[in-house]
Amino acid sequence: MTAQTLIDTARTLVAGDKGLLAMDESNATCNKRFATLGIPQTEAARRDWRELIVTAPGLGDSISGAILFDETIRQKTNAGKPFAKALEGVGIIPGIKVDTGAKPLAGHPGETVTEGLDGLRERLAEYAGMGARFAKWRGVIAIGDGLPTRACVRVNAHALARYAALCQEAGLVPIVEPEVLMDGGHSLARCAEVTEEVLHKTFAELRAQGVLLEGMLLKPNMVLPGQKAAVQDSVEAVAEATVNCLLRTVPAAVPGVAFLSGGQSAQLASARLNEMNIRFKSRMPWALAFSFSRAVQQPALDAWKGDAANVSVAQQALVLRTRANQAARRGDYKE
Ligand code: 13P
Repeated sequence: MTAQTLIDTARTLVAGDKGLLAMDESNATCNKRFATLGIPQTEAARRDWRELIVTAPGLGDSISGAILFDETIRQKTNAGKPFAKALEGVGIIPGIKVDTGAKPLAGHPGETVTEGLDGLRERLAEYAGMGARFAKWRGVIAIGDGLPTRACVRVNAHALARYAALCQEAGLVPIVEPEVLMDGGHSLARCAEVTEEVLHKTFAELRAQGVLLEGMLLKPNMVLPGQKAAVQDSVEAVAEATVNCLLRTVPAAVPGVAFLSGGQSAQLASARLNEMNIRFKSRMPWALAFSFSRAVQQPALDAWKGDAANVSVAQQALVLRTRANQAARRGDYKE
């Protein structure tokens, strides 16, 4: 596997105006979302939901890559085609989430470290054999009283870099996702400060581990006020704070930045991405794209409700959001 293959895959994932679709929720997270809508929390229902997504007409026009979960990459469409093959068939590159979740960090109440490095080399080889060409690992950083600690930022950055190096060894493009959560009442300025520190430490570790920056993608949070903050800043203020933070921390060699949505509404996530691409495109050395889960899937899940009769309407709701974000990449988004 050559470095050029990694570079080509990373560039393809953020080329033009397409973006990534995150459909890699763990079974527990998927079940939680199903439960709120009264959808059965079974493997069969999860498969039905993933089939609805993978087979949505026109999805490949706005989506370059889709991130699968371990259960999902082993599942098939009703026609008997593995989901990874079905995605490839419509021009979407299959990817895989490879971390095994955020676990309580010893000695640091309220903080987590993401696990999954043990045996990762073998798992990556298996996923590559199933058609995955990129991977994802999410580190989680909470903002709170005295949080994040340096210990939490450091261990998560270190794990992300070790994961990224293993991915590149296996020929998979690592998507590096250090998520600063929007839970809490903190200000936009506090999120900017923490995100800047987290990205700075993450890139220091990536460098220490010898990760090829041209062959990876960054999946950060937008810089936002906490969900419970009294002041909810404008779309313009969020766009400016986010781009400033990225310009200070993300090397120009990285081909693309693809945001997570993190609990923002579908409309706000698109509007903020749009604003960044309208106002700052000429200043940014990397493509600014999306890798949303909730902000793309939620309206479709609300429409589906687990009922086969709603599949077509739900697929339309899904593609409406992927196209909205495609427009936001061009700075053409209008609700
Ligand atoms: P959200 O867009 O729902 O934050 O999910 C993105 C993701 O992949 C989380 O790991």
